Amino acid sequence: IVVKADGLAAGKGVVVASTLAEAHRAIDHMLGVGAQAPSADGQMARVVIEQVLEGEEASFIVISDGRQVLALATSQDHKRIGDGDTGPNTGGMGAYSPAPVVTPNVHARVMQEIILPTIHGMAREGTPFTGFLYAGLMIDAQGHPRTLEFNARLGDPETQPILMRLKTDLFDVLMHATAAVGSPDASTLDLLELQWDRRVALGVVLAAYGYPGDVRLGDAISGLPAGSDDAMVFHAGTRLDGAGQVLTSGGRVLCATALGDGIRLAQQRAYELLAPIHFDGAQYRRDIGHHALKR
Ligand code: GLY
Repeated sequence: IVVKADGLAAGKGVVVASTLAEAHRAIDHMLGVGAQAPSADGQMARVVIEQVLEGEEASFIVISDGRQVLALATSQDHKRIGDGDTGPNTGGMGAYSPAPVVTPNVHARVMQEIILPTIHGMAREGTPFTGFLYAGLMIDAQGHPRTLEFNARLGDPETQPILMRLKTDLFDVLMHATAAVGSPDASTLDLLELQWDRRVALGVVLAAYGYPGDVRLGDAISGLPAGSDDAMVFHAGTRLDGAGQVLTSGGRVLCATALGDGIRLAQQRAYELLAPIHFDGAQYRRDIGHHALKR
C-alpha cells in the first residue's frame, strides 16, 4: 500500500506500507492526527492511496519546446537513506547515468506510451509545456514502464551525472527549447542533436546529520577537492561564513560525481573523490550504483 501526501514534501511524502496498520499510521501522520503534520504550510490535508508497483525505478527526463521533445540521458536515483535501499525515503542519495534498466526497447516504449502522448496532449489542450519534464518510472521484469510521477524540472541528484555527460552546450539546449515560446512555428529543437560522453557518470550525495529528519546546520566542511572535467563536487546545502569557511546549510549538502569507463570505475572514482571530505555527522550511502552493478 502506497500512501502519498498530496502536496510538496521535499521527496519525503511517500510511505510504502507493508501492513494496514502501517498505512493507517502514515495517513494519521500526514493528516496531522495526533502527531505533527510534516507540512510547514499546513496544507497537507489530503493523501493519495495507491497500489504498490514492483520493479526497478528509473528517471526519464526530456526537454520540450511545447511540440518537439529531446530525451536526455537516462538515470537512476537511490531514494532510501540506507545501503541496500533501506530506511526512510529521501530526496535522493545518489544517482548514475545511463540507467541500464532503460534498454533501447524500454526507451522507445517510454517515448511512445508516456512522453509523447503527454507533450502532444498538453499542446492539444492549449497548454503546451516548455521545459524539462521528468517522468519517474517503475519498470517491471517484462520491461513494462509505468509512470510514478511527473516533475516539471530536472531531478536532484540525477542532474549532476546527466550534466557531467552532456557534451552539447546546455545554454544552446535552453535557447532552442525556448525559441518557440509564444510562436510554435519557430520551433528549432528538432535541429539539435544532443552529444553525450559515452562514459558512465555516478554521483554520491553527502547529507547532513539528521537527514531526512530534522537536520543540523552549520557544520564546518573540510577536504573539498578541486574539480576537474571528469570529477566534480556539486554544492547544494552549503554556505560560506564570513571567514570563508564552507558550512552545511541544508539536508543534502554535496554530491561527489565522477565519470568512468563503466559503472564500477565511475563508482570507484566518485568514492575516491568524496574520501577527503569531512563534516561532523556526514551521511552517505556506500552502494550507489548497486542495481547497475548486478546487471
Ligand atoms: N531525485 C528525485 C527528484 O529530483 O525528484
